[in-house]
Amino acid sequence: MKKEIKPFQLAEKSIKKNLILATKLDDKVNIMTLGWKTIGTLWSKPVWIVAVKPSRFTYDMINKSKDFTLHLFSKERSDVVDLSGMASGRNTDKIKELGLTLKKSNKVNTPLIEEAEISYECRIIHTAESGNNAEHRLYFGHILAAYAEEGLLN
Ligand SMILES: Cc1cc2nc3c(=O)[nH]c(=O)nc-3n(C[C@H](O)[C@H](O)[C@H](O)COP(=O)(O)O)c2cc1C
Repeated sequence: MKKEIKPFQLAEKSIKKNLILATKLDDKVNIMTLGWKTIGTLWSKPVWIVAVKPSRFTYDMINKSKDFTLHLFSKERSDVVDLSGMASGRNTDKIKELGLTLKKSNKVNTPLIEEAEISYECRIIHTAESGNNAEHRLYFGHILAAYAEEGLLN
């Protein structure tokens, strides 16, 4: 059972792990493993900042969509982090392959993933290039809603 949480409530738990970045464009939903992320504030709003390399399929999708969702999975679901970081949505339906369940978000177009332990709904309010030959674009996602499994709140 999931409960709504405050944006920074479980930030220490989320920031230490690789997360799953979900994007939606038209009817297609794709996920990718994300190591480069920061949680903070921009213009007094809570934000997740995620970095995506231009070669990723996710990059094509996120540039055309206005939002993303971000997810932490338990270590029992390490298969999600492994497959999402290896396969590309260009030729693999990772959500189907992993047997994940999508659920309508409350504030953004990209859906939530039911099996995640912690999830965030984020609307993109700013982008920037990373520079320094790292070739990633940074997306600043205003955290509009966050949820966690009840068991994590005790
Ligand atoms: C542990 C781990 C962390 C990763 N972190 C990032 C990241 O922060 N940014 C990025 O662009 N790619 C990162 N990747 C690579 C993408 O997850 C990988 O290239 C993925 O297959 C892209 O999927 P897509 O083509 O469907 O977007 C990471 C991969 C792994 C295994």
